[in-house]
Amino acid sequence: MFFATHQLVVALLLLSLRVRAGIVERVKDLPKLSYDFVIIGGGTAGNVVASRLTEDPSVSVLVLEAGGLNTGIENVSIPLQCPILTPNTPFDWNYTTTPQVGFNGRSVIYPRGHILGGSSSVNFMGYTRGPSTDYDRYAAITKDPGWSWERLLPYIFKNERWVPPADHHNTSGQFDPSVHSTTGVNFVSLPGFSHPIDQKIIQTTKDLPEFPHLVDINAGSPVGIGFTQSTIGNGARSSSATSYLSPQVIKRENLFVLLNAQVSRVLSQGDVSGKISFGVVEFTDGVGGPTKQVSAKKEIVLSAGSLATPHILLNSGIGNKTELEEIGIKTVVDNPSVGKNFSDHTATGLQWLVNSNLTLEHLHRDPAFFESELEQWEKSKTGIFTISTFNNIGWLRLPANSTIFQSSPDPSSGLKSGHFELLFTNGISRPPFPATGNFLSISVGLVSPSSRGSISINSTNPFAPPLINPQYLTTDFDIFTVREGIRAARRFVAGPAWKDYIISPVQNGTKDDELDVLIRGSAGSIWHGCGSAGMTATDAGYGVVDPDLRVKGVEGLRIVDASVLPIVPAAHPQAAVYAIAERASDLIKQAWNQK
Ligand SMILES: Cc1cc2nc3c(=O)[nH]c(=O)nc-3n(C[C@H](O)[C@H](O)[C@H](O)COP(=O)(O)OP(=O)(O)OC[C@H]3O[C@@H](n4cnc5c(N)ncnc54)[C@H](O)[C@@H]3O)c2cc1C
Ligand SMILES: *[C@@H]1O[C@H](CO)[C@@H](O)[C@H](O)[C@H]1NC(C)=O
Ligand SMILES: *[C@@H]1O[C@H](CO)[C@@H](O)[C@H](O)[C@H]1NC(C)=O
Ligand SMILES: *[C@@H]1O[C@H](CO)[C@@H](O)[C@H](O)[C@H]1NC(C)=O
Ligand SMILES: *[C@@H]1O[C@H](CO)[C@@H](O)[C@H](O)[C@H]1NC(C)=O
Ligand SMILES: *[C@@H]1O[C@H](CO)[C@@H](O)[C@H](O)[C@H]1NC(C)=O
Ligand SMILES: *[C@@H]1O[C@H](CO)[C@@H](O)[C@H](O)[C@H]1NC(C)=O
Ligand SMILES: *[C@@H]1O[C@H](CO)[C@@H](O)[C@H](O)[C@H]1NC(C)=O
Ligand SMILES: *[C@@H]1O[C@H](CO)[C@@H](O)[C@H](O)[C@H]1NC(C)=O
Ligand SMILES: *[C@@H]1O[C@H](CO)[C@@H](O)[C@H](O)[C@H]1NC(C)=O
Repeated sequence: MFFATHQLVVALLLLSLRVRAGIVERVKDLPKLSYDFVIIGGGTAGNVVASRLTEDPSVSVLVLEAGGLNTGIENVSIPLQCPILTPNTPFDWNYTTTPQVGFNGRSVIYPRGHILGGSSSVNFMGYTRGPSTDYDRYAAITKDPGWSWERLLPYIFKNERWVPPADHHNTSGQFDPSVHSTTGVNFVSLPGFSHPIDQKIIQTTKDLPEFPHLVDINAGSPVGIGFTQSTIGNGARSSSATSYLSPQVIKRENLFVLLNAQVSRVLSQGDVSGKISFGVVEFTDGVGGPTKQVSAKKEIVLSAGSLATPHILLNSGIGNKTELEEIGIKTVVDNPSVGKNFSDHTATGLQWLVNSNLTLEHLHRDPAFFESELEQWEKSKTGIFTISTFNNIGWLRLPANSTIFQSSPDPSSGLKSGHFELLFTNGISRPPFPATGNFLSISVGLVSPSSRGSISINSTNPFAPPLINPQYLTTDFDIFTVREGIRAARRFVAGPAWKDYIISPVQNGTKDDELDVLIRGSAGSIWHGCGSAGMTATDAGYGVVDPDLRVKGVEGLRIVDASVLPIVPAAHPQAAVYAIAERASDLIKQAWNQK
């Protein structure tokens, strides 16, 4: 017995050594300081590109990631623990927004994954592709049909590996197999644990015609309510680090990942055929360590996310010349679009006191129950810990005759897109947990905002945080839509299925001005920001990257992350980020004639 255990420990040790072969923490452990590609950020998109480019053994890739390793952290793997991974933890960048006028001057938290896998290692795992028309709009903005829904589907399928839910329940009627792929890389599944409210939600979609039932939320036309799909497989979180950097990939001899390496700037080495060329990256060797440099023989790929990518560009002198001069940064490339046109989602939480004790409150109030569920997860990867905080989700449109359309154009991409989202939680999912009572929560998200904000800097110190100013709820359309979303959520729970369940609402007020007090006083971000380094047509008069994601007007620099999506999708964006990273990998391979 002892011997067997001992052998197991040795085997595990060897395995963990091998898993980490390509991942190092200090520059001195790297074999060289020059690679074909240097990828900035080992996050959602960056790891896709690293994994795909190193399929060709003749190509060398270095990933520079500011955070640490994702493995060996149980709470990162346990889906239901997602709400405690941020904010203000070792896995978070700990950002807050600037004071938001639309939030009565409040600053709100803006978590970002500071860990291998980036935000895919800390997010809530909802897998929502959004409306097909969002992608068709990207194709129109870039004049590149390659970004259309139809042409991206093969890349969506390259990413998705559809697997059974943790409880292996009969999923017939809960999704449409014809729009899913079982051969991709990143696990996607239906909820592996059901809450008592799930059936009431589905029943309401049958009782109230205003709320159509969606068999599959990811078929390209998501107006209605259905079961959530999540980046979860075998009961655990599937991130870009667990999937695209699997042990098989990490052991490739041409792939290197340097952790604790915070990039400050990209540096140019002069002109190539009349264009400024970038080929050097400056970063810290260890947390807060001295800065070092590496070079990229072919390209630098910026995948630091929609906050850090514009931040690094601005630090490097790529931005609005007037604004860079005001701070005292020498302009290398005058591109006034860097950091602008940031679009993001807000959410307002609603709760109702309910007549049940089978809500998440129970889990958080009964330590014995919590422990036994945790043990069950550890033993068999089943039970309540295998799911995220929402088993059902839906998107809805304002009626076409809404008064707002007399004064504001419709910012959504068309009839297949929601204007707002309802996200259903069986209780309160994140601390502080209430001492008494059991609750139903519906989060009302604004998914087609017309407000636009910015990411900027106010310091020559590249390690100072960026200023995050999403300008939430600063248009008439945005506040109107959130009010209507709240009214819709209330009509939903007034359906017959909830008759003996709902006791009373937590939030009162029905008039516009009462709702505005609630919204502006309590709404937060749901951290979906996009567009801060947007892609546009080659001949457009604005935009940061061209349709091939190369930074306009320069050589050697490409951007692959959420910042290139010129408008935030009317969905949680990780599915879109994975898809564009898959296509970007092909674009890079084609540009360099690689396998
Ligand atoms: C708490 C939370 C919950 C969310 N829930 C969902 C959800 O349920 N569903 C969904 O679809 N989306 C969700 N999102 C959003 C989604 O996760 C992101 O839109 C997506 O992961 C962004 O991918 P990315 O590649 O652009 O950036 P990231 O995945 O954030 O990757 C950026 C990487 O770059 C690294 N980096 C940044 N700056 C530097 C630097 N200077 N030097 C070196 N490395 C750097 C970061 O550490 C990170 O690893 C959530 C986000 C958060 C924060
Ligand atoms: C995981 O989260 C729980 C809270 O639910 C906390 O008590 C525990 O310390 C965390 N585990 C680790 C290793 O951080
Ligand atoms: C975020 O805050 C936590 C808790 O204080 C800290 O451990 C972590 O290092 C911070 N993250 C960064 C990137 O500084
Ligand atoms: C699953 O449910 C469907 C529809 O209810 C039924 O037709 C099918 O036989 C079930 N499959 C299994 C394996 O039980
Ligand atoms: C650049 O910034 C200045 C100062 O904020 C602003 O007035 C100007 O309009 C910006 N240029 C463009 C093209 O956006
Ligand atoms: C922001 O986007 C709009 C198009 O939606 C464009 O007209 C404008 O020039 C962009 N602004 C900047 C500073 O790039
Ligand atoms: C939940 O409610 C039921 C019925 O009222 C009761 O029998 C049970 O003891 C309660 N469970 C807990 C954990 O409070
Ligand atoms: C919109 O149309 C519906 C159905 O015809 C009607 O009940 C409603 O009053 C109209 N709303 C407005 C603002 O005109
Ligand atoms: C930059 O902005 C931050 C946050 O608003 C502020 O604390 C800091 O003092 C500003 N720095 C400069 C140099 O203006
Ligand atoms: C809402 O109304 C109920 C019943 O009238 C009351 O008990 C509750 O305190 C009110 N809540 C708020 C936030 O005003």
